[in-house]
Amino acid sequence: MSPQYPGPKTQAMLPRGLPLFRNGLRYEAAASKAREKGYQAPAQIIVDRAAGDFLWDIDGKRYIDLQNGWATNPLGNAHPEIIEAVHEAHKRYGFHYDHPLRYELAEKLASIMPGQALPRFNFEVSGTEAAEAAVHLALCYTKRRYIIAFSAAFHGEGLGTKLISGYSGDNNRYLEAWTGGVIRAPFPFSDNIPAGMSEEQYADYCLWFLDNHIPDSVAPRDSIAGILIEPGLAEGGNWIPQQSFMQGIRKLCNKNDWLMIADEVLTGMGRTGKMWAVDHYDVVPDILVVGKNLSGGIEPCAGIAARDEILGDNPQSSSGSTFAGTPAGCAAGLKTLELYERDNLVEKAASLGAIANKRIKEWERYSIVSQARGNGLLLGVSFKNPNIDEDNWFMARAVRSRMLANGVWAISDKEETIRMYPALNMAPEVLNEALDVMEEAIAYVDRHGHTEGNYPAWPTGVAGF
Ligand SMILES: Cc1ncc(COP(=O)(O)O)c(C=O)c1O
Repeated sequence: MSPQYPGPKTQAMLPRGLPLFRNGLRYEAAASKAREKGYQAPAQIIVDRAAGDFLWDIDGKRYIDLQNGWATNPLGNAHPEIIEAVHEAHKRYGFHYDHPLRYELAEKLASIMPGQALPRFNFEVSGTEAAEAAVHLALCYTKRRYIIAFSAAFHGEGLGTKLISGYSGDNNRYLEAWTGGVIRAPFPFSDNIPAGMSEEQYADYCLWFLDNHIPDSVAPRDSIAGILIEPGLAEGGNWIPQQSFMQGIRKLCNKNDWLMIADEVLTGMGRTGKMWAVDHYDVVPDILVVGKNLSGGIEPCAGIAARDEILGDNPQSSSGSTFAGTPAGCAAGLKTLELYERDNLVEKAASLGAIANKRIKEWERYSIVSQARGNGLLLGVSFKNPNIDEDNWFMARAVRSRMLANGVWAISDKEETIRMYPALNMAPEVLNEALDVMEEAIAYVDRHGHTEGNYPAWPTGVAGF
């Protein structure tokens, strides 16, 4: 029997974060505001150990892991073969910039890029750096000034990526004056379609906006370097773009001589049941950004892949950093890709995704579920308050809290969606168990509401992020 949650060690440790971490005061303010309204504070756990599909908190309580190291553990937690490969690389090389593994991994990546059309690669440390590198490359290659990015998109927390991301106005406070080169365009969210429009009409409108509104009234067509898009808007809520939208973007880029940049940091490497999310749309981007899964969940590794001429000789363009493409990071990437092939990981993700998508779609019958959507194992369930049109995200929080109490960890980060990122090789019975727990939590909150005191009291405290 799993211990109760939050256990005494968790209760004691979380408050230690309040004076330590940057989010401490913010967390406390959010928690007390929630309590004033009779809602729950955000629930957190502190991980003691992790293995495969599971992790344990410091009180020894076990959770099925749908958080997945924020979607970075394609083969589950702490995969021993990847750890071994990383360990060997550490022992052999320590850290040096040039080593054979960077050549091997770049060659391997070139062979699996969409359409095998992106042969050049530049290593970066994180997804953030890689997204920034992609934008910089596009500007330098085209010698143009503007990049189009989307509402609710997330590309990272660096200065450049903050400017490009559109997922929260607040995120750009005090940076307003710096965003001069970023043009924000509407993304055709499937649950927020303007009255009277079909989903396809909405997608068409968003394409029209790109091809007409922007060049007519924001920036000249030939001053725009390209369009940066997540082919599955991940942090923004796991939104899945329509077929016509993604294909329309490729066509617009061709027509206008704009580069199409796919940020596949989260959607890439099998997350959606294909190696790249763009493969669902039969489009090949000009630049592709990769991170997260490439690390095998063990050692950071990220980068950009691009068409030969784009990432060829360009005196203005540069990116990368000291620790980009470390021996250990490349070893992790190489071993991870070897295991993808050996274990048919992308096919596994597709069949697990089919199970999950069928089940979550059925949850739209609950009055608190506004929409369930997914592409492979990029899964999101959005919530609404059926009684009042506000604070929908407390519904999501209440469901997630009950899931945690019952041993399933998923993401809901002050948002009205619960996002799930199972490992691509999660055992089907474990995934089904996690979905059983989630459905029970939804049914519970649907019946009892989200303010009822039937959830575990959450201690005031903050984990270190
Ligand atoms: C689409 C996308 N791009 C970039 C990033 C930033 O990656 P990292 O956190 O590794 O810097 C993220 C992180 O969630 C992401 O989802």
